[in-house]
Amino acid sequence: MRYVTLEEIFDHPIAQKYLNRSGMAHAIAVAEYAFDFAVEKGVSVDLATKAALLHDVGHYTWYRDGEWDYDLYKENDIHAIKGASRAHKLLIRLGEDRHQAKEIAVAILLHTDSYLPQGELMLKPLQEVVAQADEVDEEYGGGHHYRKISSNEARIRIQKLDKKMNDLFKQTSTKQQFA
Ligand SMILES: [Fe+2]
Repeated sequence: MRYVTLEEIFDHPIAQKYLNRSGMAHAIAVAEYAFDFAVEKGVSVDLATKAALLHDVGHYTWYRDGEWDYDLYKENDIHAIKGASRAHKLLIRLGEDRHQAKEIAVAILLHTDSYLPQGELMLKPLQEVVAQADEVDEEYGGGHHYRKISSNEARIRIQKLDKKMNDLFKQTSTKQQFA
């Protein structure tokens, strides 16, 4: 069962604000990859696509003299920490199940290790799916944050993902019924 759809998240003003800041096109592409990877790995497509869509909502734009400064970003960035908490608050407001909201928030927290001094993260399959989906769509120098998409195309792709998930849920519940 899905408590909240991707379109409901997409429509929320908080999501609009932060998704547009960090790159709507990137967020949607990562959600699409996450869907495929989640199917492959047998993890929840619902959780994976939500974490993927919201993984960068904690981004702050690091500017120096009107230009985005990558070094300043590397030095000060905590977007995964901020994003995890921001996404959690948004999901709870929208009526997401509390356990699921936590799983999603933790996957966002662990989608990068950029804020850690060193060391490797031990990821669970859901967290791995989100991190991999993000990596696949990344461009050198943060270019993926600036890719453009019209809000109409963004909505259509979000609706498509919601539909794919609903179809998948219908399929699996019919299989369970007749098993
Ligand atoms: Fe990202």
